[in-house]
Amino acid sequence: MARLKDKVCIVTGGAVGIGKTYCQALAAQGALVVVVDIADGAALAEQIGGLFVRADISDPATVASCVAQVMEKYGRIDVLVNNAALFSKLPVARYDEIDFDLWDQVMAVNIRGTFAMCRAVGPVMEGQASGKIINITSGTVNKGMPNMLHYVTSKGAITAMTRCLSRELGGANICVNNLAPGLILSDSILKNADHVADTEDKVIASRALRRHGYPEDLIGGLVFLASSDSDFMTGQTLAVDGGSINT
Ligand SMILES: NC(=O)c1ccc[n+]([C@@H]2O[C@H](COP(=O)([O-])OP(=O)(O)OC[C@H]3O[C@@H](n4cnc5c(N)ncnc54)[C@H](O)[C@@H]3O)[C@@H](O)[C@H]2O)c1
Repeated sequence: MARLKDKVCIVTGGAVGIGKTYCQALAAQGALVVVVDIADGAALAEQIGGLFVRADISDPATVASCVAQVMEKYGRIDVLVNNAALFSKLPVARYDEIDFDLWDQVMAVNIRGTFAMCRAVGPVMEGQASGKIINITSGTVNKGMPNMLHYVTSKGAITAMTRCLSRELGGANICVNNLAPGLILSDSILKNADHVADTEDKVIASRALRRHGYPEDLIGGLVFLASSDSDFMTGQTLAVDGGSINT
């Protein structure tokens, strides 16, 4: 049975990597999926019967225009998945090797971009008195993973943003939750071997379930948070990492 029939779902960073799997999974549940990315998601959108909007989420004007396009086509927004981030292309580096320009770029996309999407979509959901916002954070926040200080800091901010927004939007019946994957062997991360080189074995050893994680492992948690099954859950973090951290 389709659990998201005709629900309008925006997935940022939906063109490649894990985001692409999210788009396909939501469409498989009957959703009308909007792929938002700086990368090309036109073919994917066509394949799943959705809409592609090319947008840089760090630019509030572009985000406002993106949301206006979605409203013009569908007239509502039921689910927002804030998945876009500067992540897989980031060099792995010690804190004192991170320059300030890169620090600012990571914060602009990962934090301000997520805020910009919430700020543009929130009023639409408030007007509907319903909605689900799913922020993609990371188990690295709990682990304090070294050598990605900019990235881990940005995901920590998203964790806090989720808790705060859940209280601001709860009165309008909007659920805001974090989905926190552990290390997931997406096609994006596999292109940057530094991310997995030293950590792969240690990550598996840290898990109760001793195996690799793949994008498909996240589908159950994502659909749960997007669907009415999670209607009484907000401000929480759902870790999907084979039992590496305990939230
Ligand atoms: N792969 C993992 O191990 C892992 C673990 C925990 C969390 N995550 C998170 O999952 C998400 C997806 O990760 P991934 O492995 O697919 O890597 P990824 O680097 O491919 O994902 C980033 C996506 O965001 C898009 N993007 C980047 N900047 C953008 C911008 N300014 N505007 C719009 N889109 C932009 C990219 O084009 C890409 O589609 C990220 O938020 C990442 O932090 C990944």
